[in-house]
Amino acid sequence: MTDDRSPIPADDPERLRERALDALTTARDRTALLTTCVDERDLVAQHSPLMSPLVWDLAHIGNQEELWLLRGVGGREAMRPEIDGLYDAFEHSRAERPSLPLLSPDEARRYATEVRGHALDVLEKAPFEGHGLDEAGFAFGMIAQHEQQHDETMLITHQLRPGPQALTAPDPEPAAPYAGPSEVLVPGGPFTMGTSTEPWALDNERPAHERLVPAFHIDAVPVTNGAYLAFIEDGGYENERWWTPEGWLHIRAHGLEAPLYWRREGGQWLRRRFGATEVVPPDEPVLHVCWYEADAYARWAGRRLPTETEWEKAARHDPSTGRSRRYPWGDADPAHEHANLGQRHLRPAPAGSYPAGASPLGVRQLIGDVWEWTSSDFLPYPGFAAFPYKEYSEVFFGTEYKVLRGGSFAVDPVACRGTFRNWDYPIRRQIFSGFRTARDA
Ligand code: AVJ
Ligand code: FE
Repeated sequence: MTDDRSPIPADDPERLRERALDALTTARDRTALLTTCVDERDLVAQHSPLMSPLVWDLAHIGNQEELWLLRGVGGREAMRPEIDGLYDAFEHSRAERPSLPLLSPDEARRYATEVRGHALDVLEKAPFEGHGLDEAGFAFGMIAQHEQQHDETMLITHQLRPGPQALTAPDPEPAAPYAGPSEVLVPGGPFTMGTSTEPWALDNERPAHERLVPAFHIDAVPVTNGAYLAFIEDGGYENERWWTPEGWLHIRAHGLEAPLYWRREGGQWLRRRFGATEVVPPDEPVLHVCWYEADAYARWAGRRLPTETEWEKAARHDPSTGRSRRYPWGDADPAHEHANLGQRHLRPAPAGSYPAGASPLGVRQLIGDVWEWTSSDFLPYPGFAAFPYKEYSEVFFGTEYKVLRGGSFAVDPVACRGTFRNWDYPIRRQIFSGFRTARDA
């Protein structure tokens, strides 16, 4: 039996192979859940111009697997070269995908299943000895992560979709209101950011390099709905001084006055969550805010967003050894007691949950629950090399995108690490995004 708590076994080809099989199977089970809980009409409908129809994600998952595992690692011929263009994310915008001659739900399912069958043949025979990014061991990990990333995308589509609840999951354990220190001091000094050794780290997480980080304070838990409500009730959305010029223009133009999915009714705030309406829970990390809202809240609170470097130092730096850990709690892969991951719940857990997942300095919930906006633009690390293609990360580098860290409840453990980087436009809030704040020491 594999010990699923140990790091990905870079030096043991057979265990890495087992691990790849397990990751692919877990991803496919989740894809099946997300694409069978609604009917055919729902699968082909576009629920928001921001998102693809679910049936596009399904065939795109299969097509990328065919491209990198069958044609790439396996050296096979294209199964259906005529569909490649339809499922190339760069050829057609999300908004135009519903008008393409896409595979039907049945065809898409059959295609993805057929690709998977061949991928498992390739998996059995491929050499798993090498450590390089261009080796089979990496390709399988990359494709499992790719499917899980689209599963999160599909969950975002489920949340946007009108109509009754299609998905259910148990709630996280209730927790007593967080009573620990509100912030933690991270001492100044050097720290190793990124990784050169994590077998399944993507190109943008590489290479490991040293950064000198001045001392700073960071929130011990993510900003809660209750805290965010105080900003709303204090007129935060009506007061220009808290907002960047772009942020102010944006919230005025779009009439934003609360997180996405919130509405005020009578004396209270309600939110819609996966087809059900409920009172906004005050102790839960705030969700569905854009970067402009996170940035404005921080300024109102007399604080600021952490930089990406600060976030990673808070999450990985072990002051007693000077080493950077894989996760806040150490090097073991995430287990249930560490973090809210993998769509086990359909919501974040109350602030202060998962004490076993805290960093050495006591920062909680850095991994899981909500993606955390940082103040940083998405830029390459020194020594960055694009892999497997420029469109994975490189074409997104620049000032247009802000970095999010830590992963949400919708992220699978295979696609989540202390080094993992996500990015999006500062206006986006359909994603499972929240934040925590920081200040100079
Ligand atoms: C890293 C989440 C921004 O969804 O565009 C999926 C991940 N890359 N297919 C995205 C991705 C290629 C990517 N994000
Ligand atoms: Fe993709």
